[in-house]
Amino acid sequence: MTAKLVKTEAVVEGRTEVRWTLVEEDDTPEFEDGAPTRPVGEPTPRISARARTTGSARYTVDVALPGLLEAVVLRSPHANARVTSLDLDAARAVPGVRCVLGPGEGPEHAGSPLTDAPAFAGAAIAVVAADTPDAAEAGVAALAPEYEVLGFVSTIDDGFEKQDFLEEPTEHVRGDPDAALSAAEVTVEASYAVPAQLHNSLEPHAAVADWREDGLTVWSSTQAIFDARSTIADAFGLEPDQVRIICEFMGGGFGSKFGVGPQGLLAAELSRRARRPVRLVNSRREENLAAGFRTPAKMDYTIGASRDGRLEAVEATAMIGMGTGGWPFPVLEPVKSVYACPNLRLMTAPVRMNLGPSAAFRAPGVMEGTFGFEQALDELAEKVGIDPIEIRRLNHTENDPESGKPYTSKGLLKAYERAAELAGWEGRDGLRGDGRVRRGMGVASQYWWGAGGPPAYAEVRIGKSARPTVTVGLQDLGTGTMTACAVIASERLGIPAGEITVHAGDTSRIGHGPASGGSMTLASIAPAVRMAAHSVRTDILGLAADMFEIAASDLTLEDGEIRSVDGTLREPVTEVTGKLGNAWISGSGSRGPNPDGMNVNTFGCQIAQIAVDTGTGAVTVERVVAVHDIGRVVNPMGARSQVMGGVLQAIGFALMEERVVDPTTGTVVNAGLEDYKVPTIADVPEVVCEFVGDPDPHLRMGVKGLGEPPIIPTAAAIGNALAHALGVRLREAPYTPRRVLEALGA
Ligand code: MOS
Repeated sequence: MTAKLVKTEAVVEGRTEVRWTLVEEDDTPEFEDGAPTRPVGEPTPRISARARTTGSARYTVDVALPGLLEAVVLRSPHANARVTSLDLDAARAVPGVRCVLGPGEGPEHAGSPLTDAPAFAGAAIAVVAADTPDAAEAGVAALAPEYEVLGFVSTIDDGFEKQDFLEEPTEHVRGDPDAALSAAEVTVEASYAVPAQLHNSLEPHAAVADWREDGLTVWSSTQAIFDARSTIADAFGLEPDQVRIICEFMGGGFGSKFGVGPQGLLAAELSRRARRPVRLVNSRREENLAAGFRTPAKMDYTIGASRDGRLEAVEATAMIGMGTGGWPFPVLEPVKSVYACPNLRLMTAPVRMNLGPSAAFRAPGVMEGTFGFEQALDELAEKVGIDPIEIRRLNHTENDPESGKPYTSKGLLKAYERAAELAGWEGRDGLRGDGRVRRGMGVASQYWWGAGGPPAYAEVRIGKSARPTVTVGLQDLGTGTMTACAVIASERLGIPAGEITVHAGDTSRIGHGPASGGSMTLASIAPAVRMAAHSVRTDILGLAADMFEIAASDLTLEDGEIRSVDGTLREPVTEVTGKLGNAWISGSGSRGPNPDGMNVNTFGCQIAQIAVDTGTGAVTVERVVAVHDIGRVVNPMGARSQVMGGVLQAIGFALMEERVVDPTTGTVVNAGLEDYKVPTIADVPEVVCEFVGDPDPHLRMGVKGLGEPPIIPTAAAIGNALAHALGVRLREAPYTPRRVLEALGA
């Protein structure tokens, strides 16, 4: 097969990456209109359901190796300090302690994850590896650190006041916003604030490292095994193929687990020095102090519009509370990209604070920014007296408003229409009531990327027993990517998805697969898997053609059988594969680039129905209608479960989740799950979920991403529903009973 190197661009959570990729010729036929696609598009249970529910699934924290050492990190209790005394020798003298690393120590070619100048409560100072967790804890206790405590910044306002930015603030201008704003017939000014939301992945950040003469193996709970590999290789001066990263099963990451993290770097360095395997697992409190958060933000919007509700200009400012790390998340992207608007000024200030490093969190920036702007837009609708869905339709854009480029597909208008039908939007005013319980209904639009792109490689093999394997260089962070890969191979091979084994989460098996992030994963890998499976199909049918003396073009694979299209031949596929002995048929596939000159985006609309108890201030989300355009849906069961998860996580954001920082010490007071409230099954509303997108005509297989879209509009729709119910708008999330009662003047 001829292959060539191609340079492509991919948009990952708003950042454009340029990548070189090896692209092979692909003769896989597209699905024909109306032809069966099964099981693609039919609900398929997770192939890992049994392993996950019976406990046999092996997560990073479960990896136990002979001679395994347990590592524990000493973390700063102070928001800002200098370590003035630290007794590393005392820790080394503790029985069972095998290795201690202090500030500045770590991999030779990377900055140390350990510091004697901790800039947030939870910053890592030292790490102890010992025979048992108790011995490691005793070693940490023996370090007896002393600190000089320094002043700190724990609010966005204080950080802004000090003009202390993680990166320079940016300004983006389109058209002439000043002139347009002063000429506008109607203006609306609106401010919104959101708190830090903590990821709380069920599986904490964790690594197990095993440094051997012949190479290093790291089990890592990571959303990106290949990024993890290059980070480790660079840090230790190794070649990438001397490093093997394994992530067999994973309990979520939500954006906080790109790469290998300090856990991986420290476990590897400890293993190198101690010549023993080392396990380093964050406690739940460490998770919420040091492993990332969705950035708190303050957003101000000034909207200028015509009397009939057309956007003329928007000036928007976002101050983002970055903590000590992260990247300026695209909080103002919804202003820039969702609607037609000729004039803009967008200012973003990423403020440094003495809090842990922020991390991407499921639609980072865009979810918070949607919460603000979609509510500001409703305020405009109210002012000009237009229905909220109508004002969204009115400002719909056919092309990307920034570049003018067309979209490969855009099902947003269809999503509005279908969501309104499913929610009973027409009757929403009749819901409200005037008793103690009031109801409301609110809408919001969803915009995100999710094109996927190269590089992504897959291999499919089939042997004697006709139980195929699919090998992909990705990791399944819990979303069901591996099941989707089985479904895609199943369609080409005519063998049920449940009989297909998917190998993933191991850099030693195959070349690069996508990271699990940016809603890129399935959209990247799907065409590669289908291409590999098609190649195997072609080989099987070629062998069958010789065997049965029927032209390969008259044969097909279905239900484990080789069939002739005229129905005269039906033989089990093992008639062919059974002759393979110990050989196998294999095929490889790769992901080609996306079309030039076009934007690939996902779109959607959600409508939330809520009830407020005006006596207690409690808000209940009763129903969420979620209608999204994600192109072709590979596995509707998996897709629905993604939507449920996104909606629930957004309900947490809108109603209950909030990191609380003690203003007198700068430390987080609710870092544990006992005092940081996340939604549970009791908070799950009725979720009505539909997909309106046709397969994207410009992408092979027509698949776009889904990881992030469902979380994006929910909180905004809840905010709009609350305003509809109460006739009062709340400016700050989460909408706790206290804030609701205050807004009601109770
Ligand atoms: Mo993400 S925030 O693409 O895991």
